[in-house]
Amino acid sequence: MTEQGDAGTTRKFNAELYRAEPVSFVRRGTRLQGRRLTAWEKYADEYLIEVPRHIADTSVSKDFDFDAAAHFERKAPLVIEVGSGLGEAMAARAAEEPERNFLAVEVYRPGLAQLMLKAGQQGLKNVRCVQANAPEVFDVLEDASVDEVWVFFPDPWHKAKHNKRRLVNETFAERVARVLRPGGLWRLATDWDEYADQMLEVLSASEKFENLHESWAPRYEGRIVTSFETKAHNAGRTIHDLTFRRKNS
Ligand SMILES: C[S@@+](CC[C@H](N)C(=O)[O-])C[C@H]1O[C@@H](n2cnc3c(N)ncnc32)[C@H](O)[C@@H]1O
Repeated sequence: MTEQGDAGTTRKFNAELYRAEPVSFVRRGTRLQGRRLTAWEKYADEYLIEVPRHIADTSVSKDFDFDAAAHFERKAPLVIEVGSGLGEAMAARAAEEPERNFLAVEVYRPGLAQLMLKAGQQGLKNVRCVQANAPEVFDVLEDASVDEVWVFFPDPWHKAKHNKRRLVNETFAERVARVLRPGGLWRLATDWDEYADQMLEVLSASEKFENLHESWAPRYEGRIVTSFETKAHNAGRTIHDLTFRRKNS
């Protein structure tokens, strides 16, 4: 079953109806064209991790054991970016840090194609991606198997009636806490003041994390300026960064 539906033949599929929790994304176009289509065909075998689905085509079967070392063909510290967009931050960092493995989790197919294009052009060996709903990917990762988690500019869902769709909440914090190794970092950034406050509140209230700073973190130098950040700057919004560390217990 697809989430998009095939125009004229299938009724539009509502991913929310089939999941216990609201999803933090809206499906955008999945059709690939031009360079992105070529990149997908050329690089998916190398970079894309296929996961068994539950019902929706961005879901992950709960029976799946995500063996990162097998997919990267080596054991190395693992960085996961949730909602990697066009993959700008990940491709740049992966090139700088060949000793770490980088996994992009994104539902937006053209974004993943763009990441694969960049990774392929640079011949990166330490990048993989998965097209799936991030909370479901976290549910199939091993305990304490991740070195760092990034959530940069998650969809703000700024209308009050949509706040429940925000990715960063208590439940997601529990998921991140389970998969991060003790001492592992969770880096976040947003251009929505009120979401920034929510992130700070949720993570500060968790016994599993400690803030590396008084409140806001300095800008993470590994986070390159993406189109989303430029748009936020142009609109006069402030960017807030946060860095929390997974406690030992
Ligand atoms: C506003 S964009 C930011 C992209 C990128 N991080 C950047 O800074 O340019 C948010 C991205 O998160 C993705 N996303 C939202 N919820 C997601 C989820 N539950 N699982 C995977 N990707 C998600 C969206 O598809 C979108 O590409």
